[in-house]
Amino acid sequence: MKPFKLLVIDDEKLIRWSFEKKLNSKNFKVYTARSGEDGIEAFEMEQPDIVFLDNKLPKMQGLEVLQKIRAIDEEAIIIFMTAYESVDIAVNAMKSGAYEYINKPFSFEEIDIIIENIKDKINKDKEIQLLRRERKDDITFSHIIGSSELMMQKIQISKKIAKTETTTILLLGESGTGKDLFSRAIHNESNRKDKPFVTINCSSLPETLLESELFGYEKGAFTDAKKQKKGLFEVAENGTVFLDEIGEINQATQLKLLSVLENRTVRRLGGTVDIPVDIRIIAATNKDLKKSVDEKLFREDLYYRLKVFQITIPALREHKEDVPDLINYFIEHFNFQFRKNVEGIEPKVRELMMKYDWPGNIRELRNVMERAVILESNSILHEDSLPGEIREDISEEKQCHPYNFIIPEEGISLDEMEKEILKQALQKTNNNQTKASELLGITRDTLRYKKKKHKL
Ligand SMILES: Nc1ncnc2c1ncn2[C@@H]1O[C@H](COP(=O)(O)OP(=O)(O)OP(=O)(O)O)[C@@H](O)[C@H]1O
Ligand SMILES: [Mg+2]
Repeated sequence: MKPFKLLVIDDEKLIRWSFEKKLNSKNFKVYTARSGEDGIEAFEMEQPDIVFLDNKLPKMQGLEVLQKIRAIDEEAIIIFMTAYESVDIAVNAMKSGAYEYINKPFSFEEIDIIIENIKDKINKDKEIQLLRRERKDDITFSHIIGSSELMMQKIQISKKIAKTETTTILLLGESGTGKDLFSRAIHNESNRKDKPFVTINCSSLPETLLESELFGYEKGAFTDAKKQKKGLFEVAENGTVFLDEIGEINQATQLKLLSVLENRTVRRLGGTVDIPVDIRIIAATNKDLKKSVDEKLFREDLYYRLKVFQITIPALREHKEDVPDLINYFIEHFNFQFRKNVEGIEPKVRELMMKYDWPGNIRELRNVMERAVILESNSILHEDSLPGEIREDISEEKQCHPYNFIIPEEGISLDEMEKEILKQALQKTNNNQTKASELLGITRDTLRYKKKKHKL
C-alpha cells in the first residue's frame, strides 16, 4: 500500500510535532510547513492527499494559501484549522473550497475520523469513475484515450457524424484498434443515446441463424419457428445497430441488408410485409472490404451503401505518441481492478513500449498492462513484468546509441547542459510538466526539483 500523504501547514511547532508524532507511520507520511509560502511549495512537490491548513500564519494568511492551493489543484482536499472565535473565517474557508474545518484545540480522535472519511470518499470517487468507465452503455468519447493529432482527428470527425440521425457509418481498422469503442461512443453521443444499441458479431453465428437474428421470423417460417420473433433491426427501433465483422456475411444476407439500407424496411423470414425501421447502422470490419469487392465476395452496391461515411481507426504503431497516456490509463484501471498500487513505469520500459510495433494494437497493449500490473510486486513497473517480445526489442535497441554527442576539447558544464535540456523540454511541451517529464524519462517530482534547482 502506498502511504497516505498529509501536509500540515501551521506555524505552531506543537501542532506540527503532534501530527508527526501521532500519524507518521507506514500508512501515513506527514509533511510539514511553517508558513503559507513553504506550504504551497510543499504542496506542489509532494502532492499530498490531505492538507491541514492553519488560518493564522505569519505572512500569507490561511485563506489566501487555501485559494492558491486550490488554484494549483482544484480538487485538493483542505482541512481548515481555526480558533473557536473565528466562525466567519471558517465559513469563508468553506466558501473558498475547504473540505471541512476544525476548531482548535482538537483531539486526534477527531483527526482520525476526518481522515477515515476522506479515505472512504477518495476510494468511492475512484470506484465510481472506474465503474463508469467500464459500463459499456456509458462509453463516451472521454473514454477514448488519444491526444495525438491522428486520433484527435478521428474523434472529432466521429463526434460530428454522431450528431447526424441516420447516416450509415463504416468503421475500418485492424483488430484491437477500438472500432467497438468508437461505435459505442458514437451511439452515446447521438440523439439516439437513450434508445437501444444492439450489436451483433456477424462472424459468430452460422448463416441461417444470423439471418433470423437480424430480420426475425414469422411463426412457421421454418420447423423451429414455434412463434413469431422480432429481428434485431426491429428491436433496435430508434436506436443503433452495430454490425461487427460485416466482411463475413454471405451473399444472401448481403442482399437483404442492402434492402434495409435502401428502403429502411425489414421483412421477417417467412413474412410478407415490409416493416419500416428507424435505425442507424454502424458496420465494422478489420478486413479490406474493397479487396473483397474486387474478389466478388462482397457486393459492390452494398459496399458503397455502407461507406457513405467511412472512418479508419489507425493502428497503434501510427500514433505511438499516445502510448504513454494509454499506459497511465491502464495502470490506473488495473490498479483498481486488482487492488494494486502501481505508481508508474520505469522510463526505460516506457521507451521499450514506445518502440514496439503493437501488431495487436490497443487490445494488445491493454493485455500487456493487465499482466504487468498483476505481476509487478514493486511500485514501479519493471522490464521483468513485460512479455518477451517487447523486451527483446529493447535489447536490440541497447546496442545502438541514440546520441552522437562528443564532448568538445574545451569541455562542457553538465549543469548548464541539464538546464538547457530542461528548457527545451519545457518549451517543446508548452510548459506541460507531465509531458516534459515524460520526454526526459523522469518523474514530475524530479522535474520540479530540477526546475527549481535551475530557477526555471
Ligand atoms: N483509444 C482507446 N482508449 C482506451 N482503450 C481503448 C482504445 N482503443 C481500444 N481500447 C481498448 O482496447 C480493446 C480493443 O478495442 P475494441 O474491441 O474496440 O477493438 P476492435 O477494433 O473492435 O477490435 P476487433 O477488430 O478485434 O473487434 C478494448 O478493451 C478497448 O476498450
Ligand atoms: Mg470489435
